[in-house]
Amino acid sequence: MKLISVLFTTMVFIFLSACDTNPYKHGEIMYQNFCASCHMDDGTGLEGNIPPLAGADYITQHRSNLACIIRYGMQDTISVNGIIYNNAMPGVPQLTDFEIANILNYINHSWGNDYGFVTIDEVRASLEKCKQ
Ligand code: HEC
Repeated sequence: MKLISVLFTTMVFIFLSACDTNPYKHGEIMYQNFCASCHMDDGTGLEGNIPPLAGADYITQHRSNLACIIRYGMQDTISVNGIIYNNAMPGVPQLTDFEIANILNYINHSWGNDYGFVTIDEVRASLEKCKQ
């Protein structure tokens, strides 16, 4: 009887683990590895130095540029939620198109953001425009 109960508990555990289907898990890991050191774990950035990604108007207004920013970086003077930023962001050229899509989808669905799903085709079309 005891054995059956141990087996049952194990099976329930395995079943629950298999149900842990956070669709943005991979993007979250990539974000933590490549972005969080500047933009912070919670996407708030550092006011005046590093722009936020959480609740950022820039993301909704420049959707088709975001893949290029991630791959090639940016050095510009931009306004995010009314605050000016002009530090340089280095690109992360080793990220694949899929990894970029996963990171963008994690950002678009985190910290209260509800910015919609980005497809791999959309990422590829964006990257065509800034191919270097
Ligand atoms: C070394 C610090 C640093 C790292 C690492 C970094 N960024 Fe940035 N990011 C910046 C800075 C600084 C800017 C503003 C650039 C400018 O003013 O031209 C910026 C701008 C942005 C913007 C546009 C502005 C906004 O806040 O919406 C996005 C989107 C962005 N970064 C996403 C990312 C993502 C995704 C990653 C990881 C793949 C990443 N960044 C990694 C520093 C960084």
